Amino acid sequence: MELSTKGISMKVPNETAKDVVIREVLPGGAGPPPPGGSKETPTPPPIATPPQEEIKPKEIIDLPPTIQMPLEIKSCKFYHGIIPRVDAEMTLRFVGDYLLRRTEPKEGIGGQYLVISVKREGGYVHVPLSQEKEGGKQFYFMTTVKENTVLDLIDAHLARGQPISTTWNAYLRKPVNRSTWIIAHEDVILYKKIGSGAFGEVFLARMVDPTSEYVLDCAVKKLKLEATMEAKLRFMKEARMMRKTYKHKHVVMIFGIATLNSPLLILMELCPNGSLISHLRKNKGRVTILEKLRFSAEASSGLAYLEKMNCMHRDVAARNCLLSSKNEIKISDFGLADHKGMAIDHSLDKLPIKWLAPETMQDKIYSLKSDIWAFGIMIWEIYSDGEEPYPGLSNVQTRAKIVVHDYRMKFPEETPIEVVQVIDTCWNKNPDKRLTMGAHAMAMQQIYETKMPLLINQMMTAPQNPVAGTNGPIPPEQVPNSPQPEPQEPSAFLR
Ligand SMILES: Nc1ncnc2c1ncn2[C@@H]1O[C@H](COP(=O)(O)OP(=O)(O)OP(=O)(O)O)[C@@H](O)[C@H]1O
Ligand SMILES: [Mg+2]
Repeated sequence: MELSTKGISMKVPNETAKDVVIREVLPGGAGPPPPGGSKETPTPPPIATPPQEEIKPKEIIDLPPTIQMPLEIKSCKFYHGIIPRVDAEMTLRFVGDYLLRRTEPKEGIGGQYLVISVKREGGYVHVPLSQEKEGGKQFYFMTTVKENTVLDLIDAHLARGQPISTTWNAYLRKPVNRSTWIIAHEDVILYKKIGSGAFGEVFLARMVDPTSEYVLDCAVKKLKLEATMEAKLRFMKEARMMRKTYKHKHVVMIFGIATLNSPLLILMELCPNGSLISHLRKNKGRVTILEKLRFSAEASSGLAYLEKMNCMHRDVAARNCLLSSKNEIKISDFGLADHKGMAIDHSLDKLPIKWLAPETMQDKIYSLKSDIWAFGIMIWEIYSDGEEPYPGLSNVQTRAKIVVHDYRMKFPEETPIEVVQVIDTCWNKNPDKRLTMGAHAMAMQQIYETKMPLLINQMMTAPQNPVAGTNGPIPPEQVPNSPQPEPQEPSAFLR
């Protein structure tokens, strides 16, 4: 057997993450393998960064009780969990392809059904499985077939070549297995809460990667239970997209999502140094211009990548830039925001007003160009050491100032003029006149590279131990390196 140890992820055949992790952290338990590992130890994939601090068993947080599914269903590869009907249809490609899924209970109506979705000639059929108890025994049935278990019921239809819907003449032919990035809730352990935001709480966690069976440290976003169905559907769609295509040094990597049960979880790369906004606020006056230029260049590069992938972020802000163990920027939470849904509540308070472009405030129009507006605000946050935008103004006042008076914020004096010039078009009232993220990224990188030698030189000649306000380098011992619970900033949505 091979163990997972801090800093190294290893293969653990036939074991759950829970077994492994608990054994690892128990005092006197099996010790870590010798440095470098044994000869047979496979080289771990360099994906996850381990937490820097010891994880204690008592900190393990249980997921809320999940809805009980018969084991045979949970382990059945063509069971896709709670996926929407449209997603099921997108998964079924050929006539006779089928899968098993589950519906969510509807408010006021209740009820949870297992559904077989199948592709037929010219469309799809979704058949809820009926259940009944007879003499203390559970039965499932479809059309005229009745069996003890769901799998027996499916096998019976396959064996007899009987349609599952006589109206539509729909036959089962080939099961379609769920993708490997759908993670079972049982393979995730939440350790401790490290933050919370508009969409849910974030935990330090470990997961078993279904393809490699490696145990990985990760961050898990637990979607709020009360999230609207629309938000959940979009969450799943976006997460699927992110997993498939989004791989960039400055974009948070998504490992998978857990949709087989509630609550929905999104499992992502752990960014041990927390959010950029906290870093800026904690180190107010001590973050150097050089570091700010690097943050600006890295964030622009991540956002330019998302733009290239045609992904609207919708919540670009310093709170959604996370920091790796090397303090590199990772853009997170792209595509998650559900502002439209929130706007329907008529609750202006729930929107991150200060990051919204005028066309979004007025007409709820989102585009890649409204992300560019928010990018300008984020750059302002960086150079003002994490100040809240439009200092002293409420959300309502901000909206009025922008929409009615065409007001724009001034950048802090020490912001390099080149940066201010690059940002100039971001806050143009006409979205078409805002430069693309690609153009911004190139310009930011150029400024960073051009100014770096001079700034390094200045830092070398500056007095040691800088005092607040001098923009000297941060002493290494002050660079946070472990996932700390965030100081609970009031969410921008709630301001
Ligand atoms: N992948 C991650 N790795 C480490 N910490 C994370 C990760 N994702 C989120 N966090 C922590 O959790 C905190 C809350 O994140 P969350 O995205 O839920 O809220 P937010 O960014 O403050 O607001 P918003 O709801 O607009 O995204 C972050 O500030 C960060 O400290
Ligand atoms: Mg966030």
